[in-house]
Amino acid sequence: MGLVSVPLWEQERLRIAAGSTLRPGGFSLTDRAAEAIGLLPGWRVLDVGCGLGATVERLRSRFGAQAWGIEISDTQIARSQGVSGIIQACGDTLPFASDFFDALYCECVLSLFPEQKKGLDEFWRVLKPNGFLVLSDLCSLDDSKMESFSCAGRAVPVLQTQEAVEKKGFSVRLLEDHSPYLKELAAKIIWAGNDENEACACGRRLGYYLMISQKQGAFHAG
Ligand SMILES: C[S@@+](CC[C@H](N)C(=O)[O-])C[C@H]1O[C@@H](n2cnc3c(N)ncnc32)[C@H](O)[C@@H]1O
Repeated sequence: MGLVSVPLWEQERLRIAAGSTLRPGGFSLTDRAAEAIGLLPGWRVLDVGCGLGATVERLRSRFGAQAWGIEISDTQIARSQGVSGIIQACGDTLPFASDFFDALYCECVLSLFPEQKKGLDEFWRVLKPNGFLVLSDLCSLDDSKMESFSCAGRAVPVLQTQEAVEKKGFSVRLLEDHSPYLKELAAKIIWAGNDENEACACGRRLGYYLMISQKQGAFHAG
């Protein structure tokens, strides 16, 4: 019988290195995006792939949002220690009505979706017209490919994600490189006892981006 490996985001060493925000940049990019979109108290916001629920709580406490989280893993939900509003579901099948959210966050998760397009279709559906999509994720800095169920293995060039987002009908409002946050987290993971090859994503050249786009125009089926 083969060994089933625990994904990095469920390992203690990531929690030691990153705390409750299981991604590069922690709350810096969450807050930067909230400020950039002018997030107002009372806005309905969804965090897809919310992990331990840190962003759900942050958006409530700092910005006064009505926030919910979607998380696929029961292990993560059990560790979220009673953060309210977290629902177990797959991010590409959201249990919410259409045109419901003012903003949707997806932090370090989209690259894990089996079908990115299906996820973007669903994000589009649940966002109100002019609603904001906040993506931050790993991206590959070259054309290398790796078959692996890890953020690092599945990362694609940011331009590929931008193309998919725009094809869906979103207008990209902001695209920033935040790769130094990835280096910082990788160093902390090594410090927390990881093996260097794994932290460096098996030799792939990776970066980290923040992309904010807005739901506009008619439905794009393509
Ligand atoms: C790298 S962690 C990021 C967690 C959280 N967004 C954060 O930044 O702290 C990725 C998370 O996405 C969840 N996830 C992976 N695929 C998912 C999917 N298809 N739908 C919902 N959650 C998913 C994982 O279980 C994990 O908690």
